[in-house]
Amino acid sequence: MTLSGKRILLIVGGGIAGYKALELIRVLRKRGASVRCILTKAAQEFVTPLSAASLSGDKAYTDLFSLTDEAEMGHIELSRDADLLVVAPATADLMAKMAHGFASDLASTALLATDKAVLIAPAMNVRMWEHPATKRNLAVLREDGVSVVGPDEGEMACGEFGFGRMAQPDAIADAAAALLSGGAASPAKPLAGCRALVTSGPTHEPIDPVRYIANRSSGKQGHAIARALAELGAEVTLVSGPVALADPPGVAVVKVETAAEMLAAVEARMPVDAAVFCAAVADWRVARAGDEKLKKTPGGPPSLGLVENPDILATIAKRTSGRPVLVVGFAAETEKVIEHAKAKLARKGCDWIVANDVSTPAGGTGVMGGDRNTVSIVTRDGVETWPILDKTAVAQRLAQRIAEQLKDRQWV
Ligand code: CTP
Repeated sequence: MTLSGKRILLIVGGGIAGYKALELIRVLRKRGASVRCILTKAAQEFVTPLSAASLSGDKAYTDLFSLTDEAEMGHIELSRDADLLVVAPATADLMAKMAHGFASDLASTALLATDKAVLIAPAMNVRMWEHPATKRNLAVLREDGVSVVGPDEGEMACGEFGFGRMAQPDAIADAAAALLSGGAASPAKPLAGCRALVTSGPTHEPIDPVRYIANRSSGKQGHAIARALAELGAEVTLVSGPVALADPPGVAVVKVETAAEMLAAVEARMPVDAAVFCAAVADWRVARAGDEKLKKTPGGPPSLGLVENPDILATIAKRTSGRPVLVVGFAAETEKVIEHAKAKLARKGCDWIVANDVSTPAGGTGVMGGDRNTVSIVTRDGVETWPILDKTAVAQRLAQRIAEQLKDRQWV
């Protein structure tokens, strides 16, 4: 996605992820944007103004009370002159300042003075990210219309593991491009503060180190739903099986292979407010996957003893504590679509089933891997059938429907 001709004011906070801000400058410029930087005092412990200036090809600003800088370009003008403000890394401190309207240094003043869109890429220790204070600040920022990309899950500089790593420069640039093209710029963020989880893609169940059982799910629908929920302001985690798709902007992505890993990743993110289970989870796995590659033997092919995988949707829908307010499942059906979906709704204990007609060629459109879907939303109160839509439109409509359903709830 291009950023051709766009002017970005990059505000670099003081964190170890600051080194990635330098790579971000390079990526943004490569996509055609001009970049001007502000470095907080703490940022300068990690990145020098000289390196930011060299890579951006512009002066790097650091001081609120600098006569020379003010004479060149006033601090208000600095933020107004940009098309978009990107804060990367957005530290817990910087997020707190933004949420409370502080203007105590050049970075926070520029952020308060701006009338342009703001995108933050949080980066901090996992405990700081999960602290109620940071969650509150994040909810306030989302309500104020600030867009968020990441953080990602992984090992941190401090040695701990979890969410808190800054999103990759490419993902930040994608999110910036989406915002500037209007993709996420909707003024209404009805899901701001809502925590959502989406599963997507297939799972791979190993037979031996080189072979696995899989299915044809592309992950397109699940990824589009994660993106659509994030665009409405939700804080989205996408737990995805192996797919050949880019991570949706503004979404924390957890990559897994097997159903067991998917269940563990989903449970680790509980509680959430809304959960959408779109993954085509393999129903079975091989009871005893080989440690070594299975060889052909004169005795004929091996028999694969299969055991049933845990049902992730049913496990979460039937939780007695910490159940999401709204649990949505998918059902791919070739006949008696509504009847089967209703039975699945009852059996799995979820609130809605998005029933997908995958019959071909008689009207079915939702063939795995395709781009269009014919869906019906089956709830305990009835059935809504939607026209044939592409997967992005299905995702946007479903996200809107979720926002409508949850509109009276308060998120913190
Ligand atoms: N699902 C899950 N974990 C599983 C199996 C399915 O979370 N182990 C979820 C899917 O993500 C989807 C729904 O359950 O939301 C689909 O249910 P499933 O029984 O697999 O539906 P079908 O594949 O349509 O199965 P059936 O053979 O019963 O028609």
